[in-house]
Amino acid sequence: MTNLSPIGVFDSGVGGLTSVRELTKLLPHEDIIYLGDTARMPYGTKSQQTISKYVSQDIKFLEQFGVKMIIAACGTASSVFPTQDFFKNIDICAYTGVIDPTIKAACQQTQNKRIGIIATAASIRSGMYQNEIKKIIPDAEVVAKACPLFVPLVENGYAKLGNKVTQLVVEEYLSDIKQKQVDTLILGCTHFPLLAPMIQNYLGEDVKLISSGAEAAKFAKNILEQKNMLNPTKESGKLKLFCTDSVELFKENVDTFLEHNLNTEILQTSL
Ligand code: DGL
Repeated sequence: MTNLSPIGVFDSGVGGLTSVRELTKLLPHEDIIYLGDTARMPYGTKSQQTISKYVSQDIKFLEQFGVKMIIAACGTASSVFPTQDFFKNIDICAYTGVIDPTIKAACQQTQNKRIGIIATAASIRSGMYQNEIKKIIPDAEVVAKACPLFVPLVENGYAKLGNKVTQLVVEEYLSDIKQKQVDTLILGCTHFPLLAPMIQNYLGEDVKLISSGAEAAKFAKNILEQKNMLNPTKESGKLKLFCTDSVELFKENVDTFLEHNLNTEILQTSL
């Protein structure tokens, strides 16, 4: 592992590309290896034990490429943390999930100390987002809501503003959060930024939305700077994508998630 090594990023599907999108803006000279475990998605409906097993396999897969850092760009994967022992023989300078960076950003942002969290059922059940907020702002009022239907809606191209089906689901899931007048909403699943225009429209412009994928990317940049591990090259970084199910299906979603056309290669793999 050296400064020239790539950054490894993983998610159950394409959601983690919201993190990659931010990384390529912040660190345009870094190579990135991305894994979307599409054959086993969604993670958000699985047990902690199953998610832990998947996360270990995802990390082991990325390790083969000699990555210098790994980002679990998935709220659900971030809600289980591999043991210190697991990392003993893995040669990376840092591992991060999305939860810590996202919570810090939300706690800095809120004025009225009312924070909403939407994420997958597994992430909400783990209580990690809620507990971490309370550590920073003990008297915060936290409104947490699992939104399991958002992931398939996004994966199936139902995210565009004005989509009637998704609009109904947004209203159903977010009515409590709207009523509680939160001023900050954590999009705790990396798929959810694709629904941001619809969510913002429903909650109003005064509510600040925090994207977990983007916050994790900012955090990763800081860590690499601190550890003096940035890639010194002046060339554009390369992005290599792996998925565990059909490349064709994955490709359709990749274009939606990545705003600009990046120099990408997509390959299928098994874990
Ligand atoms: N992107 C994943 C997350 O951030 C959710 C998708 C899934 O359920 O697999 O939690």
